[in-house]
Amino acid sequence: PYPAYDVLRSTAPAFPALDGRWFVTTHALTSRLLRDPGLRVSDAADYDTFWPDWRDNRGVASIVESMLMTNPPDHTRIRRAAAATFTARRVAGLRDVITEQATELIEQMPERADFVTTFAYPLPIAVICALLGVPDADRTWFRRHAADLTVVLEPISTEEEMERADLAGRELEDYFTGLIAERQKSPREDLTSDLASADSGLTGAELLANLVLLLVAGFETTTNLLGTGTKLLLDHPAHADRLRADPEQAVAFVEETLRYDSPVQMATRTTGQVLDLGDGLELPTGTDLMLLLGSANRDPDRYPDPHRFDPDRPNIQPVSFGGGAHYCLGAPLARLEAQVAFPLLLTMLPHLAPAGEPVLRDRLVLRGYAELPVTWG
Ligand code: HEM
Repeated sequence: PYPAYDVLRSTAPAFPALDGRWFVTTHALTSRLLRDPGLRVSDAADYDTFWPDWRDNRGVASIVESMLMTNPPDHTRIRRAAAATFTARRVAGLRDVITEQATELIEQMPERADFVTTFAYPLPIAVICALLGVPDADRTWFRRHAADLTVVLEPISTEEEMERADLAGRELEDYFTGLIAERQKSPREDLTSDLASADSGLTGAELLANLVLLLVAGFETTTNLLGTGTKLLLDHPAHADRLRADPEQAVAFVEETLRYDSPVQMATRTTGQVLDLGDGLELPTGTDLMLLLGSANRDPDRYPDPHRFDPDRPNIQPVSFGGGAHYCLGAPLARLEAQVAFPLLLTMLPHLAPAGEPVLRDRLVLRGYAELPVTWG
């Protein structure tokens, strides 16, 4: 999409698509709008007006009922409860789990393998299962259902995909209902126990929807970061050497990977009041905006020579995790996973090399590799 973004961005920071929605392309305007309290996300009330039966599709419903698609005051309350359970201490406590799981996956990787299937796909789900307290034995089941549900994050899906998402939503809701009941009876050291406790103040429906969201929001997004970063390491052996010699370099490498190929390419908002874009341009209330995060991250006004991959850029701070009230709750976890995984891969598999043509995922919002053939022999 990057050449297209360049053309759009050089035309204007914001302009209308044929269907009345507006694209936002620059870093400055995207960052500003992400934080603008006058903008809202589509929520259950909006869905009621254009799709009265949306609750019948439980895949869609679980995401629409989650914090991702909720506005204040409910968003503020739910987000606060979730943030109180998803603490820095809990994330730091997952470092050992990440290292253990990543080590196991690398040890089991065949000499010629698809990196996505053998590593980038299973690692995030293992980590989310540990976070939520889902037993190891249920991981494969979880992974399949999370994958089926993820299509609802895309603007366009087939009827068959929507049916599969509905089924996955139903089964995940049943699963979490059971898990919540267990944890309410005998709490453990996991996020489900904390979120399900009486003092989180969430309703039963909010609890379910947000547990499903945590699973879905942290899955393919992180898979894409791991796949893209590994592809960049294969393409730039000098960066791989640096990272192998000094694992601390992983921090900047991960930030630049997030900037260079944003795993989430777009966030959507709607104007809740008239939006003044300057130069006499005003958008009426109810205008839908598509904030092109992937374009903002390649804006030459913010990042000189934007199409060059360069972890030494000062002050990278990509908008890949969004910004403002809906800023990604899992950003510290996603970063940690990648910061642990890349140096580990490079030291355990010093001869890791490409073994065929990678295939990009055929999606608009979630960008990353569907296949990344590698060999380590
Ligand atoms: C929200 C990106 C990983 C949980 C978001 C948003 C973005 C994003 C762009 C904001 C959407 C918007 O403003 O409309 C990413 C990327 C990830 C990642 C690029 C990996 C590289 C994770 C992980 C988790 C997670 C690992 C949890 C386990 C969430 C949640 C929200 C969110 C709960 C909703 C926050 C809210 O609405 O207040 N993510 N995410 N994400 N993300 Fe992530």
